[in-house]
Amino acid sequence: MGLSAAEPSKTGLTMRGIAIGTYGEFPDHAPLRTMAPRGSDIDPDVPDMGYTINDKAEVWSDNILDLYEEAASRQWSATRDIPWGDLPELDPDIEHARCFVATVLSEVEMVAADFPAKWLWLINHDFVEAKMFPYTQVMDEARHTVVFRKRALANGGGLGRASAVVERFLQLILDAQSYDEGSALMHLPGEGIVISLFRAGDAIAPSPVEQQILRLCTARQRLQPLPGGLSRRRAGGRLLLGGLPRTGLPPVVQAVCGVGVLRGSGALRGLRLDALAGTG
Ligand SMILES: [Fe+2]
Repeated sequence: MGLSAAEPSKTGLTMRGIAIGTYGEFPDHAPLRTMAPRGSDIDPDVPDMGYTINDKAEVWSDNILDLYEEAASRQWSATRDIPWGDLPELDPDIEHARCFVATVLSEVEMVAADFPAKWLWLINHDFVEAKMFPYTQVMDEARHTVVFRKRALANGGGLGRASAVVERFLQLILDAQSYDEGSALMHLPGEGIVISLFRAGDAIAPSPVEQQILRLCTARQRLQPLPGGLSRRRAGGRLLLGGLPRTGLPPVVQAVCGVGVLRGSGALRGLRLDALAGTG
């Protein structure tokens, strides 16, 4: 008691709206490693959950609360929000081509969910806002996998072939020894290719249905966290996961990214990779 009531904003009760009094204070170092909500009374004998990301500087951005709300507000349904019934019958060659691209996209989108999910649990629950934002990425990318699977099957074309080359690249991301290494591979060359496919696919889309799919997916790509803790969306400060366990970027990753200045973990932190990625 003694707490002033939260003020809903025009859009509703946001995370920033409940950052009231001591609940709006974020510790520099999490004193415990539990799932107890920050600010709650905690039994003295709670178990240790083993989080390894326990410092605010490793995961925090001043606008992380707002990024989470934006990502949450952009949620959509691959079932309801695509006018599947309006998908026109296409020339068989065009349908085959669209289905091939949909197959590749359904394949590669899943790594953008699996990869962050592999690392996120390590973040201390005291920084719950910094965990919530990347979890929206997991949900969004899983939806992308589904919407392209649906596109391949919606018009009678069916799925195409999954190639070993693509699978090996996805394995490289998933098996990366550090978050930064995998993130550099996924968010720069990987997402760069995906965004190019989205934009090209939109430009030559045979129907508004295909455009709707690609535009809804593209909106998320602009919010992706980038290696070094930066966001494509000009986060304004250091963003999550910049300090996850790292081994430095191996030369192959630097070469793939085409960024010669990325020498080890330190250099990555201060670089505006969103500018390099060409989106924003
Ligand atoms: Fe995606």
